[in-house]
Amino acid sequence: MWRAISQDAEKQRERNLTGKSGGLNHSEGQQSLQCLPGMGFAGERCNRLNHGNHELVELIRSKIRTDGPVSFAWFMDQALYHPEHGYYSSGRAKLGRRGDYFTNVSVGPMFGQLLAFQILEIWERLGRPTTFQIVEQGAHEGQLARDILRALATISPACFDNVRYHIVEPFAVLQKAQANRLSEFGACIEWSSSLETIERFVGIHFSNELMDSMPVHLVRRANIGGDRCWVEKLVSWQDGHFKFVEAPPSDERVAEQLGTLRDVPGDAELEINLSALDWITTLSPKLERGYAIAIDYGYVIADLSSLRHPAGTLQCRTQHRLIESPFDSIGDCDITAHINWSAIAHRAEKAGLRIDGFTDQHHFLTGIIAKYPEAVQADDASARRQLQTLLHPEMMGRSFQVLSLSRGTEAGERLSGFQFARAPLRQLDLRPTA
Ligand SMILES: C[S@@+](CC[C@H](N)C(=O)[O-])C[C@H]1O[C@@H](n2cnc3c(N)ncnc32)[C@H](O)[C@@H]1O
Repeated sequence: MWRAISQDAEKQRERNLTGKSGGLNHSEGQQSLQCLPGMGFAGERCNRLNHGNHELVELIRSKIRTDGPVSFAWFMDQALYHPEHGYYSSGRAKLGRRGDYFTNVSVGPMFGQLLAFQILEIWERLGRPTTFQIVEQGAHEGQLARDILRALATISPACFDNVRYHIVEPFAVLQKAQANRLSEFGACIEWSSSLETIERFVGIHFSNELMDSMPVHLVRRANIGGDRCWVEKLVSWQDGHFKFVEAPPSDERVAEQLGTLRDVPGDAELEINLSALDWITTLSPKLERGYAIAIDYGYVIADLSSLRHPAGTLQCRTQHRLIESPFDSIGDCDITAHINWSAIAHRAEKAGLRIDGFTDQHHFLTGIIAKYPEAVQADDASARRQLQTLLHPEMMGRSFQVLSLSRGTEAGERLSGFQFARAPLRQLDLRPTA
């Protein structure tokens, strides 16, 4: 989605989240934030807040009543992925103009068409394997898979004939939507419910906006008795409302990540995405030979000292409106946070992957078009509009970044998407490892 905080949106956020402007120029984005009137769970009157899905609210409340405050990561996991009531797992999440937010995919088929050229190049680099796996994770309702496969069938029937398209999808409702949308491709599509259960593969793993949807811990740089320290924001229930309370970090792995951050100004808030680190650790051994390409929005460690987002990057959104609190519309709205690209790349390297490239979406797509100019038909007005949205620095071009990781590939030659990128380790603020 275009949830990455654009500079305009950022200014507005500072002005108390009065809504997002710019971006795709859709009128929904211009609406100002309204308090949602409503009742809390079990008929309890809430003055301003609509807590959201009643069963989910009750379930979270009951856990807090039994165990005490919970981490925000646990709360977010329930809100988005509780097997029955979560925003994504229930099938309530709708993307695009009539949904809650935009992604690269909802702009139109152009994004998938350009990715298809990058995938074709990878197939050729890998020596045209006769079983070429494309593994997609976070495929939602299968739009991107369809755009890529249709484009591949046109631009290279030889590659298309060797593709096994493997979707990692934990949720039955989304798997069903994908199967409907991809029925034209028959047996070339297969599914797994988790990354853990897939076989080692030769090919490419890719994801668009997967990691920003993973549960995060929330932390704040506090000044306690003159000492700078990190505290974690936990979710509690008091006086009929969910509230944040602060405590020392709840998980030693959170503390370990905090130890890698430097020069963070006082009072800053941040999100720690342990799930993304676990995800890359699980993915690495699955990739026998090929590439993992992740497209998402985030920051690198060097950005933390200047801190463009002192209040953190957590955003909740429904119907193209920012919601002020994650405790509004629980299970009915999206929750997302920027990712720490440096931490993810560092973990990937530790897990045995090579960092091949890191750049913004503008340079990535421009690199593909420079190598494959036939990807863009000059006389197609719709394609030109889509391309402008994807490339323009004030729209999606700079908000999104692309990381390429690989194993068992030639180190020298860059993929076309990274031909205009700077040296990745410097970009990611990582030192070359010995
Ligand atoms: C922000 S949406 C992006 C959807 C789509 N890739 C797009 O760009 O339009 C995130 C998607 O990732 C999925 N997701 C989150 N964690 C996942 C996981 N561990 N495995 C597979 N999908 C996951 C969610 O269910 C959701 O469909």
